[in-house]
Amino acid sequence: MRDITRDVVVVGAGVAGTTAANELRRAGLSVAVLEARDRVGGRLRTDTIEGAMLEIGGQWVSPHQDALLQVIADLGLETLSGHDDGDSVYVGRTGESSRFTGGALPVAESTRAEMVAITARLEELAASIDPAAPWDAAHAVGLDEISFQQWLRAQTDDREASDAIALSVAGSMLGKPAHTFSLLQALHAAASAGGFGNLAVAGARSARRVAGGMQQVPLLLAERLGEDVLLEQPVHELRWDADGVSAVAESVTVHARWAVLAYAPVLHERITFVPPLPRHQQQLHQHLSMGSVLKVHAVYSCPFWREDGLSGTAVSPYEVVHEAYDDTRPGEAHGTLVGFVSDVRADALLHLDANHRRERVLASLARYFGDRALSPVVYHESDWGAAEWTRGAYAASFDLGGLHRYGADLRTPVGPVHFASSDLAGEGFQHVDGAIRTGRDAAATIIERARS
Ligand code: FDA
Repeated sequence: MRDITRDVVVVGAGVAGTTAANELRRAGLSVAVLEARDRVGGRLRTDTIEGAMLEIGGQWVSPHQDALLQVIADLGLETLSGHDDGDSVYVGRTGESSRFTGGALPVAESTRAEMVAITARLEELAASIDPAAPWDAAHAVGLDEISFQQWLRAQTDDREASDAIALSVAGSMLGKPAHTFSLLQALHAAASAGGFGNLAVAGARSARRVAGGMQQVPLLLAERLGEDVLLEQPVHELRWDADGVSAVAESVTVHARWAVLAYAPVLHERITFVPPLPRHQQQLHQHLSMGSVLKVHAVYSCPFWREDGLSGTAVSPYEVVHEAYDDTRPGEAHGTLVGFVSDVRADALLHLDANHRRERVLASLARYFGDRALSPVVYHESDWGAAEWTRGAYAASFDLGGLHRYGADLRTPVGPVHFASSDLAGEGFQHVDGAIRTGRDAAATIIERARS
């Protein structure tokens, strides 16, 4: 066991941790970053599977995510637009598929009118929420007492209208069924992304990808830190008092004045805190849970859907794969579809063996794109719920009533211990953008304390 001393120990070499460490370094503080895995990037991982470059974790950056866009530019990385020429496909409640263009789903006129009216109400409510402090909103308690599903169903008897709107937050963002989180949590998710209009299919259309893969962002940030990033060092004990911390990892202990814990909050229980974190934090962390999403890639010898005038974008609250996109990169001869299976659909799928899972996923893609979708040359599922150092996707959110009760202390430091990660973000909540913002905020607070 080696002992080293730094001004700050950062636990976690994801985007939040590597951002915080770079900011601290820039301010003249010494850092060590301890990472449990044998690689940098956490929920960002770009890999080549059977010859196809795939984004296993996060990949898209939206126009409003300016913290991430600034870092991408600063690192000299380029972004790529998605392929969105042609018709999108929607599968409705009766199981029939239909084509559409633009943002409005091809539902019955009455359903569309209901969706427009409800979305306008939601946009108005979301506009009244400060993403950094949703608990301060007028009527925050009332908004946090009702589930998103209950609220939607109280607005309309049209089940397809409520199912489609629920999907944009439940399946597409939080990875949880809409009865498990509150209206306030849904409004926060939307407000943190610049409004409901930026969620789901509409949001994905305007998003870009990073040339070379999104994992380049934390990899290049870590490169700047050189040997101060230590891999395969899961921290299992954190001793702390008013004067500092000692983070005990696999083969190194870092003694520091401050710590930044930069990982999903569901992982705090992997660390023995001496003394324990205060009662309030221990309760708070129990009210946060990760969503559940399977991200699937199917690679074909060519992007065959384009021949049929399809864009590769598909959505349905009633399909196993609730969303799919063309994920082919410019210059690639083969064609790649990426799809998402979320919450209870993911639960059901994960009860099946690998062959049956694959069959179900491909059959769902075939309902959108035709039978050629049944025969990919490469098929890959990523299940972050099984990843020991993540435990779900895309990130953590509060259970019903938790946001107004505990949210204000999500990012409050405890003595020398500071917290960062996309799960705790205001703007950019659950996204790479939010991880960068919380990493910067934690570093700024420590820098201020170091100077006072
Ligand atoms: P992250 O989890 O990345 O990093 C934490 C690090 O801490 C990990 O490397 C972990 O190993 C380490 N760690 C944990 N406990 C430790 C311990 N005790 N000791 C040492 N190390 C420890 N976002 C987006 O903007 N656009 C997108 O398209 C998507 N899509 C998407 C798809 C999928 C499948 C996933 C899973 C996620 C996304 N996201 C996304 C979300 C985005 O990837 C995510 O919000 C950020 O990458 C999180 O970065 P953090 O640094 O906060 O945590």
